[in-house]
Amino acid sequence: MSTIYNDDILFFDGINVLDFALINQTPFYLYSEKIITDNFLDYQNSFGDNAHLICYSVKANSNLSVLSLLAKLGSGFDIVSGGELSRVIMAGGDPKKTVFSGVGKTEEEIRFALASNIMCFNVESYDELMTINAIALEEKVIASISIRINPEIDVNTHPYITTGMKDNKFGIEQSDILEIYTMASKLNGIKITGIDCHIGSQITDLKPFEESVSKIISIINLLKNNNIQLNHIDIGGGLGISYNNEESPNKSEFISRIIDLLKPLATTILIEPGRSIVGEAGILVSKVVNTKSTPSKKFIIVDAGMSDLLRPPLYNAFHAIKEVFHNNESKFLCDVVGPICETADFLGKDRTLSLSKGDYIAIECVGAYGFTLSSNYNTRLKPAEYIINKDTKSIREIRKRDTIDQILDNEIEYL
Ligand code: LLP
Repeated sequence: MSTIYNDDILFFDGINVLDFALINQTPFYLYSEKIITDNFLDYQNSFGDNAHLICYSVKANSNLSVLSLLAKLGSGFDIVSGGELSRVIMAGGDPKKTVFSGVGKTEEEIRFALASNIMCFNVESYDELMTINAIALEEKVIASISIRINPEIDVNTHPYITTGMKDNKFGIEQSDILEIYTMASKLNGIKITGIDCHIGSQITDLKPFEESVSKIISIINLLKNNNIQLNHIDIGGGLGISYNNEESPNKSEFISRIIDLLKPLATTILIEPGRSIVGEAGILVSKVVNTKSTPSKKFIIVDAGMSDLLRPPLYNAFHAIKEVFHNNESKFLCDVVGPICETADFLGKDRTLSLSKGDYIAIECVGAYGFTLSSNYNTRLKPAEYIINKDTKSIREIRKRDTIDQILDNEIEYL
């Protein structure tokens, strides 16, 4: 875990969380540049001199400062919208190192991506291939593409975050792959550059990754026999992380297994990790607003809710919750809940903690899919985000908390 206690006070990446919480409005996200950097470099170094590109998956944490940090480290990007492309460009990321995934790219987004000269589109359907070709011809450019296969692999993760199983909306069925590549090879606006897959997220077992890479290899051989050559293989997202002491293989073991499998093909390997780069690099700090007991439960009501962190209600996800000041009073069993008018608004159930009104908590491993899944539900203001500098340990605000005026400004003609 990324936090430790020192004299009963919680520290995150060397920062006294209590001191920081006392002078800043809660809830807020606090990230560590050091953890993000170390995780990125772990992947980078694991590849050694094998040709590769790490395309950080922007959806995990799209804050401009996080993207800029990764761009400076040499990262490419995996995007799923025109908005994410705008972020990459604004943060100084290189569109030529950017791949565009997703089943519903609009014409407008395709035009923007072509004008920005992105590395390639990860194509998810026949329809999409034809649209990209038509737009490329109209714009008098050639669109580089890779086809995303659906490897139909059963993975042990929450059903909502599987993406490579038979009934998912993603990718092209293996039986249709040759046909779509052959079609693509005849289109004048299209250049085939790669193959792509993604089997799901929060996978802590290497087997499904190996299985999907093996399936890709047999497809590549089939394509070769039909005179279709590829420059890169994109193996999709990265490893899962340890939220609740789960065993998770380390990045070098993961990458060396992938390299071993792909070495005979001598092509560039792309990987699109999100969670394993930023997940453990963030905490959400919140303050206890009220406590409440019913005959069957004790509730700790805090000022962060499902609008700030959706993962617990949406995926029944576990995030460790720590007292920022570890008092010596006796602990009790409680549910930690938010202020939102939904029974699903919980951050943790059946936790053993000692907390009272005014105390602070830190919710761990929320750097990935934390802030990016936040909303203004209940007209709540999205929280501020801060980051700890890796050299000086100074803390910078990297996104201001919303203001009520910003939220109301878009609503017009209401009287
Ligand atoms: N590439 C593609 C095409 C993806 O769809 C995803 C994640 C990734 C890469 C990054 O995967 P990662 O390395 O982070 O596992 N909101 C959910 C996770 C949804 C993941 C969707 N796709 C959660 O909070 O668990």
